[in-house]
Amino acid sequence: MPPAPLPVSDTARRTTDSPISYFIQKAIETKGLISLAAGLVDESHFPTAEVTEAVTGMMADPAAARVALQYGSTQGLPELRERVLNRVCEADGVRPADHRLSASNVVLTTGSQQMLYLLGEVLFNPGDIVICEAPSYFVYHGVLTSNGVKVLTVPMDDGGMDLDALEGLLTKLDRTGELDRVRLIYTVDYFQNPTGLSLAADRRPRLVELARKFSKKHRILILEDAAYRELRYTGEDRPSVKKFDDTNEYVIYTTTFSKPCAPGLKTGYTLLPSELVSPVCHLKGNHDFGSNNLSQHILNRLMASGAYQRHVETLRGVYRNKRDAMVQAMRTEFADWPAVRWTEPDGGMYVWATFPDHIRTGPGSPLVERALAEGVLYVPGEFGHVPDEDGNLRSNETRLSFGVCEPVQILEGIRRLRRACRGLETPAGKKVA
Ligand SMILES: Cc1ncc(COP(=O)(O)O)c(C=O)c1O
Repeated sequence: MPPAPLPVSDTARRTTDSPISYFIQKAIETKGLISLAAGLVDESHFPTAEVTEAVTGMMADPAAARVALQYGSTQGLPELRERVLNRVCEADGVRPADHRLSASNVVLTTGSQQMLYLLGEVLFNPGDIVICEAPSYFVYHGVLTSNGVKVLTVPMDDGGMDLDALEGLLTKLDRTGELDRVRLIYTVDYFQNPTGLSLAADRRPRLVELARKFSKKHRILILEDAAYRELRYTGEDRPSVKKFDDTNEYVIYTTTFSKPCAPGLKTGYTLLPSELVSPVCHLKGNHDFGSNNLSQHILNRLMASGAYQRHVETLRGVYRNKRDAMVQAMRTEFADWPAVRWTEPDGGMYVWATFPDHIRTGPGSPLVERALAEGVLYVPGEFGHVPDEDGNLRSNETRLSFGVCEPVQILEGIRRLRRACRGLETPAGKKVA
């Protein structure tokens, strides 16, 4: 007799495997492949010596070892919460108290990804609306889909999210009576994953003004995902969107140690409006009653000794070279094909290339197959998009990551990508000029 059916929850049914799994599998299977797909960080520059020193120091001190190997608290190590708060406020040139912020507004999580998920549990009911940039961080789309949330999108330009379009969308939703369902505006505002674009300085205060203006019956929050803020290679840091939320009511600022330090420590931190701290911690209590305590103690030591700050400086130099290699390779290899455009980011890990409309870049497309045959892998841009109202999905873009490969491999990878494009430059049926 076949076993009785095994029903799973609505949440589990809405949750599917990440579209990137196929590409990770390909990377593993294909020998000699240059992967410009992985969003991983550069392994050869992990802070190994610094972490060794921190752990050795801790384990040599019985009292410190006992504390670090014990359970921590749900909200996270107080000293580390204080330090990360000060670091964000220093970058913004503000005093925490002037923005109604203290260490009690900070929550440490298992990567910032856990906070992205927790906020969904705290804030959303199925049918709620979240507004994202188009394209956006595709893993977050997965969280939203799990929650049964409807994703609406706003286009981007060189200055990040187009705020005129955002205002237009909010006005339309107000007119149609749907504003009540809008819970959150999500922005990856520094060197966005996947485009590398950043929100322009003059748009930052306006974004907060828009959230305030349209918070008529309930508060519309902004989720500022600043995962890549510390990885700037050229230009001046921009103030966070959070800086313009001086009453600490509208903006959730979340970021991570994964990119500027080590993802194996899997620690993220978030500055929350006061009313959200308890609901988030209560749910986090259900998840794990505290993220990895040892990681938090290691990071606390790295920050206290200045090793973390020095490491970030070193990393900036390493990634700057890689960014330069990729941008230069794009300029050289695609010089003869002006219809292709790409971003030249000031930081982060990604270059976003846009091909003419007839070039499909998604799974099963000629380009992806040819790229694999040439020995290079990218992330199809369509993963960062959601279908529009007519079910159409943009699929003429690629995310190219310069995080993992060495500059010589990056150059070779872009050369291979260009070779993969040969013969596809003009739409089928048209002669090459
Ligand atoms: C934009 C963005 N946000 C959040 C995360 C989550 O990172 P973690 O959970 O390692 O902190 C990532 C990871 O790639 C990311 O790209």
